[in-house]
Amino acid sequence: MKFSSESLGLPDSSFVLLRDLIQERTGINFYDYSPDLLGDKLFSRVVACGFDSFLDYYYLLKYEDNSATEWKHLMDAITVQETFFWRETDQIKALVNVLVPEYITQFPGRTLRIWSAACATGEEPISIAIALNEAGLLDKLPVQIYASDASASALAKAKAGLYRERSFRNIPLHLQSKYFVETANNQWRIIPEIHQRIEWSIANIIVENEISYLATANIIFCRNVFIYFDHNSIRKTIEIFHKYMPEPGYLCIAASESLLRLTNKLELQEIGGAFIYVKS
Ligand SMILES: C[S@@+](CC[C@H](N)C(=O)[O-])C[C@H]1O[C@@H](n2cnc3c(N)ncnc32)[C@H](O)[C@@H]1O
Repeated sequence: MKFSSESLGLPDSSFVLLRDLIQERTGINFYDYSPDLLGDKLFSRVVACGFDSFLDYYYLLKYEDNSATEWKHLMDAITVQETFFWRETDQIKALVNVLVPEYITQFPGRTLRIWSAACATGEEPISIAIALNEAGLLDKLPVQIYASDASASALAKAKAGLYRERSFRNIPLHLQSKYFVETANNQWRIIPEIHQRIEWSIANIIVENEISYLATANIIFCRNVFIYFDHNSIRKTIEIFHKYMPEPGYLCIAASESLLRLTNKLELQEIGGAFIYVKS
């Protein structure tokens, strides 16, 4: 049978099933989307799986034992991986100027663990590593930076460490020259001294057993991901984070995001000029 995105369509009944299943498993909220928009994002996956209906695709995702690979493809298809170096630096400055010095005083010699929980193509954890290095802290204390994302394709790019001009729109030029080497095709490679300091992995933040270890980090950066989540999924994620975060433990979300009315487990504090949620 020959079919196109129009002939396939996304009937309302399949849309509701897929929308709710995707929300349950990924946290991502498609309530404000029309069926056509979600259909456009998923159409190529339906075809790649050899189906001619969205309902068959739903059954694969929901019931097939071997659906894990398809969930990875779906994650790549539905996520927004927009990010850049030196994005919202207030919290990174607070980390360098306040949280790390406090930690060194409180726990001398102990490893500081930082987790970038939705790192996309890696610009956030690399910015954190560069900022620590600029302050002379990366080699001053044992520090481990973890970076994860649910999108395998984003993570593959993060692991490759190659970036185009768009990623550098906010980072001072002298830092770009110091930490990146220009390669062919107008790309820049992060220097290994920084890239190797980051431990990369795939993890879905609303699945407890995928993040239970990562969430024990002293500081979690989970920025510009809750904007795509519905309230229940944000609550669920915060519950998991809170369960494993140490005390004190710090959570940075983006300036456009808020946990107001979603949790009273973490306290919003102003630290070094930035707003950070604290488990204390
Ligand atoms: C807009 S990017 C944010 C990147 C970076 N944190 C920043 O602030 O620039 C959002 C990222 O969240 C990831 N994401 C979405 N849902 C996720 C989930 N359930 N678990 C882990 N990552 C998820 C996407 O794959 C995407 O890379």
